[in-house]
Amino acid sequence: MPTALITGASRGIGREVAKELAREGYTVLLGVRDPGAAPALRGARAEQVDVASPQSIGKLAARVPDLDLLVNNAGVYQAPRPEIWAVNVRGPLLLTRALLPKLNHGARVVMVTSGLGSLASQSVELSRRLRDPALKLDDILALCDEMPGGYGASKATLNAMARLFAEELRSRGILVNATDPGWVRTDMGGSGAPRSIAQGAASVLWACRLPPTGPTGGVFRDGVAAG
Ligand SMILES: NC(=O)c1ccc[n+]([C@@H]2O[C@H](COP(=O)([O-])OP(=O)(O)OC[C@H]3O[C@@H](n4cnc5c(N)ncnc54)[C@H](OP(=O)(O)O)[C@@H]3O)[C@@H](O)[C@H]2O)c1
Repeated sequence: MPTALITGASRGIGREVAKELAREGYTVLLGVRDPGAAPALRGARAEQVDVASPQSIGKLAARVPDLDLLVNNAGVYQAPRPEIWAVNVRGPLLLTRALLPKLNHGARVVMVTSGLGSLASQSVELSRRLRDPALKLDDILALCDEMPGGYGASKATLNAMARLFAEELRSRGILVNATDPGWVRTDMGGSGAPRSIAQGAASVLWACRLPPTGPTGGVFRDGVAAG
């Protein structure tokens, strides 16, 4: 049975993605801060992780089994900049890096991004740096200390990270993409958002279900390339 780890699986889009994957037959590891509050899903078990804590990430990576799918979904929107960069960027980078030896050949890695992360909406300087062909994952770690912007900048940086991991993992048949769920009625999106949780989760699930010939290193919404 394939195994998937989803961060931020306690509620919102992450919980819905976890539910669908468990229904499809995955063994689902629910990456949650508080295992006591994890959703009860058949075929799933809670794994404690605070993605803002490198120590917590290290402990999780050491105890999980080999994975066929990693969904970096945990995110924060209205938070102080250090938390935004720690959760939305440094967490996915450190977790993905720590799990590299445990990703099976042909695995999928999905970064849950936002339309607010489009490069066109970022400062000229950040866009230039993220587009730089010499950009490395360590440069992204440095950006997490610099924090050049808020939520949108963090997601633009996450998109660049997806591209870099995609290049690194191409030879192992691992596809890495960023997917935007759209504006969704979760605690983050609020009750006025136009999309249901199921619609947002479907956009994320598209990248989880890609065939081996599918794209890698891209940014998508509902399976369509985005900026
Ligand atoms: N909703 C939207 O309109 C929208 C639009 C574009 C992109 N997104 C992206 O979609 C993803 C999911 O958003 P959502 O709307 O489902 O948000 P949500 O309902 O606010 O849920 C956020 C999830 O992230 C988890 N989380 C926050 N900080 C964490 C940390 N330090 N360590 C581990 N988990 C942490 C939360 O866990 P706790 O329960 O422990 O707090 C929760 O499970 C995010 O990456 C978000 O940026 C959402």
